[in-house]
Amino acid sequence: MEKIIIVGGNVLRGKVKPSGSKNSALPIMAASLLSTEPIILHHVPRLVDIETMAQVMEVLGAKVEWTGDHDLRIDPVGLSSYEAPYDLVRRMRASIYVLGPLIARLKKAKVSLPGGCSFGPRPVDLHLKGIEALGGKVSLEHGYIMVNADELVGAKMNLAGASGPSRGASSNVMMAASLAEGVTVINGAAQEPELIQLQDFINSMGGKVSGAGSDKLTIEGVSQLKGSEFEIMDDYIEAGTYLVAGAMAGEVVTVEGDFSTNLKPVLASLEETGARLEVSEGKVTVHGNPRPNAVNITTAPYPGFPTDMQAQMMAYLCRGRGTSVIRDTIYPDRFNHAQELLRLGADIVREDGSAFINGVEELSGAYLMASDLRASAALILAGLVARGETHVRRIYHIDRGYERIEEKLGQLGAEIRREEEE
Ligand code: EPU
Repeated sequence: MEKIIIVGGNVLRGKVKPSGSKNSALPIMAASLLSTEPIILHHVPRLVDIETMAQVMEVLGAKVEWTGDHDLRIDPVGLSSYEAPYDLVRRMRASIYVLGPLIARLKKAKVSLPGGCSFGPRPVDLHLKGIEALGGKVSLEHGYIMVNADELVGAKMNLAGASGPSRGASSNVMMAASLAEGVTVINGAAQEPELIQLQDFINSMGGKVSGAGSDKLTIEGVSQLKGSEFEIMDDYIEAGTYLVAGAMAGEVVTVEGDFSTNLKPVLASLEETGARLEVSEGKVTVHGNPRPNAVNITTAPYPGFPTDMQAQMMAYLCRGRGTSVIRDTIYPDRFNHAQELLRLGADIVREDGSAFINGVEELSGAYLMASDLRASAALILAGLVARGETHVRRIYHIDRGYERIEEKLGQLGAEIRREEEE
């Protein structure tokens, strides 16, 4: 196993570019299975999660190969199996994205139930509700979701759950409905940019989807989808992570790429902390602000503050002036990073889905354990400003969602390296 070691205190300067969005690439890879011809995707990030999705698709009979550094060719012609096995799905929840395409193409699916994750339960009831509305007969057997459908027929449904809309369920149903008979209307749909990308991708294959970006999706089923070439958008969460790094440890850091619209609530929070931002087309520049004003953040479904940026902001607010409060309404238990930040000298109190962060003057390096992807990023950011060395262990989480993070931060001037654990 590897760990990342950061020697805190270096000032970050310069430019960095986000990779392609993991959370956009994953459903789009799965959606390639809807096509009967090869697909070419550009700007695909080189990440463990992408490799896992490629393996899931190969088990199903598709061919997936890198044709360039970030170009992926997917040939779905051999799609023949309808089973996504436990061993792969347990590694990555997003494997469930193959459910919709499998039902659409093969009228049959057997996909392992993904189970919870380190930050709490992550149910799939809304995925199943949508699939059933289209005519899929769903049962749960031996830990697997089993679906059979004689035919899929468009339907009107509401997919908002108790904690709001679901990105995964909206995507899965959008994919299944794109080859169904007739029109499907999804009310209470997730509004994330990832849904817009998925819509655009399906339409590029000849599909008829509209409404993405709003809470109502309309999908007119077509009989077949064809090959296409498509560019994955920049990863706005990765971009946001580097902006927070810049605010924490930077002099002037510019993050290049098209992500500022998707990151609006994060940019607003950064400004509230007193960090000076310059937002222009194709880039955002942040000026260092090592002792932020205390702010309150409540995560919410898009266009609210993303839960995927909450941990990184917490790392920043550890050195705040006053008490900040972070409340995660999407995943009330997504605070594993808080207990590790305490080891650096942070003062954080957790209470019912909220964390109270009492700003301290300085952090001091320590051995830390990463528990999930965004928590790993937060611990690395904290290490950038902690006195001395911080060792972040179980770093395999970071490789699921950040491409070459140590190189990108190193390029900005951080002293950071990866080592085999002793
Ligand atoms: N939910 C249900 N029932 C369902 C599905 C979801 O109640 O059937 C609830 C969830 O428990 C949660 C909320 O709805 O409270 C939102 O979940 P959603 O389905 O939108 O999440 P997801 O699609 O499983 C994606 C991202 C996550 C991100 C969440 C929330 C991907 C591959 N994953 O997950 O990303 O945290 O949306 O924004 O897009 C990450 O990148 O680190 C990550 C965890």
